[in-house]
Amino acid sequence: MVELVLPRGYRLVSLDSVDSTNEEAWRLARAGSAQATLVIWAKAQTVGRGRQGRHWVSKPGNLYCSFLIPARWPTRRAPEIGFVATNAVAETVTAFLPPGCRVLCKWPNDVLVNGGKVAGILLENVTGNAPKADQLILGIGINLTHFPDETRYPATCLLDEGADEADIGTVLQDLAGRVAAGLAAWERKGFGDVRRSWLSRAAGLGAPIEIRLPSETLRGVFRDLDSDGALVLATGESERRVTVGDVSLASPPPI
Ligand code: BTN
Repeated sequence: MVELVLPRGYRLVSLDSVDSTNEEAWRLARAGSAQATLVIWAKAQTVGRGRQGRHWVSKPGNLYCSFLIPARWPTRRAPEIGFVATNAVAETVTAFLPPGCRVLCKWPNDVLVNGGKVAGILLENVTGNAPKADQLILGIGINLTHFPDETRYPATCLLDEGADEADIGTVLQDLAGRVAAGLAAWERKGFGDVRRSWLSRAAGLGAPIEIRLPSETLRGVFRDLDSDGALVLATGESERRVTVGDVSLASPPPI
């Protein structure tokens, strides 16, 4: 790849190695609010972070990046960005895979290929619980050439699913274009289209699932994605809206 071309208003911060691109985004955010969206990309991370305090194995060969986004919307809408990003990742992954691969989204923000997790997203709000977000960190990891052996959920990588070995910068360029286009459409039209697009690829929709919450495990049928991104779970006679948790599918998605 000669030169990585990012969308207008996006600026690249490229690093060989860093503790975590999300941590680097936090440091840059604390140093002052930028006008541009910064795309922090590292070839490797020494302390890659996953959701719920987990470690994200980050050896060279995969994509590790964080978008530090100047936000202009209420904090309560931040989770919607996670779904915008998940759709973008699903589209990027599809673009680099051979036809016929099954690309699905697992609530809230994982992307699966042929049943294995290929990408994860770590969304962090710099402004905490203040009513208006002013910077948001969108960390994205995509397994391109390898994945860890021992994972809570079965994992895979694009190479193992039949993709050619892609230049990592080229994948990032594709992803950044889709994230930018997705955010612009979301700002213009709202969450409806994002929600529909995510639902069209939702793993386990209409099927029994299990959701592990910090204090309990819920079982029920995955009914819907709410208008604010919560998962609607039918549990016998009632419905629960779940905003945090780890989903397991009762049966793996068909390949
Ligand atoms: C998950 O648990 O599924 C989310 C994983 C997010 C990993 C990415 S890699 C780039 C960015 N930097 C991090 O430390 N984490 C995110």
